[in-house]
Amino acid sequence: MTSARGRIEVLHGVNLDMLGQRDPLHYGTLTLAELDAQIGAWAIEVGLEASFFQTNAESEYVERLHSLRGQVDGVILNPGSWTHYAYAIHDALELSGLPAVEVHLSDVHAREPWRRLSVIGELCLATFSGKGSEGYRLALARLREELQEAGT
Ligand code: DQA
Repeated sequence: MTSARGRIEVLHGVNLDMLGQRDPLHYGTLTLAELDAQIGAWAIEVGLEASFFQTNAESEYVERLHSLRGQVDGVILNPGSWTHYAYAIHDALELSGLPAVEVHLSDVHAREPWRRLSVIGELCLATFSGKGSEGYRLALARLREELQEAGT
């Protein structure tokens, strides 16, 4: 059964709705719906309840983070290319006060230099990059651990 403190949201950012059509060498072949189904099943396995959100509008991503304050117990973020420059997302995540884990399907450190900076990394418990969908499973495990330590 999902514990009272086991609600997490997975926040997909810009262009992640195009999974399945993006370069499979970087992003694999799953569509976003398939990826979410996989993450949802993994969440149940570790006693978490996952909800999902995707937008291509930075303002909606920020507003979603605002609305999650007090509504969920943790977040998993893959902001897509916003990761590398969107300080508004950094500030919204900080404001949320939520435990967070950052995930990138591709290995952002083995690509163009501009992908190496993450403006949210310092706010996250961990970052998983270059592990494909498995990164989300690792992120769920890290959040589960964090919520258990916090007394669930
Ligand atoms: C990404 C990496 C980003 O650099 C890129 O802009 C994306 C996806 C990833 O999941 O690997 O859109 O966040």
